[in-house]
Amino acid sequence: MSHDLIGLRRALHQIPELGFEEEETRALLIESLRGLGRQRLIARTGITVDFGSSEPARRLLLRADMDGLPIQEETGLPYASTHPERMHACGHDAHMAALAVACGRLDESTLGDVAVRALFQPAEEGQGGARLAIEEGALEGVDAAFGIHVWNELPVGTVALTRGGIMAGVVEVEFVIQGRGGHGALPHRAADPIVAAAQLILALQTVVSRNADPSDPVVVTLGAIQAGDAFNVIPDQARLLGTVRAFDPAVEVEVEMAVRRVAAGVAQASETSIEVHWKRYTIPTVNDDEVRSIVLEAASRVEGIDTVLEDYRTMAGEDFGEILERVPGCFALVGSGGEGAEPHHSPRFEIDEEALSLCRDLHLAVVDVYVERRG
Ligand code: NI
Repeated sequence: MSHDLIGLRRALHQIPELGFEEEETRALLIESLRGLGRQRLIARTGITVDFGSSEPARRLLLRADMDGLPIQEETGLPYASTHPERMHACGHDAHMAALAVACGRLDESTLGDVAVRALFQPAEEGQGGARLAIEEGALEGVDAAFGIHVWNELPVGTVALTRGGIMAGVVEVEFVIQGRGGHGALPHRAADPIVAAAQLILALQTVVSRNADPSDPVVVTLGAIQAGDAFNVIPDQARLLGTVRAFDPAVEVEVEMAVRRVAAGVAQASETSIEVHWKRYTIPTVNDDEVRSIVLEAASRVEGIDTVLEDYRTMAGEDFGEILERVPGCFALVGSGGEGAEPHHSPRFEIDEEALSLCRDLHLAVVDVYVERRG
């Protein structure tokens, strides 16, 4: 069974699976890649497909991510998810379909000394799929890397090919505020972790407004507060959970130091102790200038791409950053939205499928320009 681009995307859309569970997804991809390249299973549920010389002068990596999200789809589309509580709500179905169909159109006879490796990478959504694929050799012999994310914040026809950082590094930060519980009527006998949490929440706002350089984008957001369960009891403990995002690793280190300083100050003033757990999910995704210039040239050759943004950034994260830390490369955000488009990770998320052929053609054009310049 062969699939056209839209058909393959819709078939993948119906069977979303979480990170490292992409078994049905991989089976469908293998079926649509039948007879193409040299295929290898990688990173538990991923695939690499190698094209061209096995001892090339240079190798270009094209990457698509595979996982869905734990979301119940509410689009009502005829090809909506058939898996309860699972949804391709970020567009990874589009990434896979565009790359798989591009693989089918790749003409190996034009590659010369250049080899191309397609990487279908599992578990992008915070579970370390890129890192595992790298550990298992996905980047061996790779000289440059290219990846795409469809992007509903941009209209079809617009592509972001940003200088430097395009997507942010993502940190999860947890604060455990240990006080001393007691009777709500006798606060002087207790050390109140709730008041300390309130002070900490407000004080953290100054990290962005007063500590970070205004020209360096930083976000500090708290997404969860947990403490107590009775109206007249001061609890022992409060817990806050949040995220920190920045484009520059050096800025992230400064923010971490400022956050720890603020927490220590609040702890001292409130006679509590505050533990700060700083957990990095992904590093920033930073484009290489030379590879970016190849992609710029490629984008200019794709019919339907009419606007290229070179300064667009988003505070969302992406584990392609792990790949770009090791090999020079470029990540492109390909507009798939427009008026009224739902944001990524919404249960009503849907892309404009016009973007699919642009993604496919951009992969192929990047191969062409890379071969011309580096082959
Ligand atoms: Ni995504």
